[in-house]
Amino acid sequence: MSTMVPMAAAEPDSHATAIAAERRWAWVVIAIMALLVAMMVFTGLHWSAMPPSRVETVDVKTLHLKGEFVESNLGTSVGADGKVTVRLVGQQYSFQPQCIVVPAGMPVTFRGTATDTIHGFVVGRTNANTMLIPGFVSTFTTTFTTPGEQLMPCHEYCGTGHEAMWARVQVLPAAEFMAKAKPGERLSCVPR
Ligand code: CUA
Repeated sequence: MSTMVPMAAAEPDSHATAIAAERRWAWVVIAIMALLVAMMVFTGLHWSAMPPSRVETVDVKTLHLKGEFVESNLGTSVGADGKVTVRLVGQQYSFQPQCIVVPAGMPVTFRGTATDTIHGFVVGRTNANTMLIPGFVSTFTTTFTTPGEQLMPCHEYCGTGHEAMWARVQVLPAAEFMAKAKPGERLSCVPR
């Protein structure tokens, strides 16, 4: 009997300690979850990291025959409003055009799609980076800060020739670029 009394006295104590410890851990877990949700909300709003608000589609079967992505319309164009647009198509295993000309220090809008499977590209170490998906038009606008030549590899595994799929991007000083650009013409650094 004398041995049971201290044990019975100790029992509620350890139970209360365990519950207190569980509560503390529960608050730690809730705090971690709240922090992660807060980070998601912050990055979503602050970096505009949101799902695309609109989806533009294009018919793969007629891509090369008519519309925006016919071969003669690919490359860089300067609109009447002075806006620079690059149109490109990815296919196994090349980009069309093979070399892209863009001005430095001016916003450039990319519009691209793919004919066969999912491709993607990133321009050097810039933030110009997107996937090219058959049936959809990928678009983004960026500004290249430094003139020079950049490599533009395909960064979505697209088949056995994936590692050989890349293009070049020539970033020209804005004045030099504008001197080359002619209204209604498509610019690219590969003569065709
Ligand atoms: Cu195209 Cu990888």
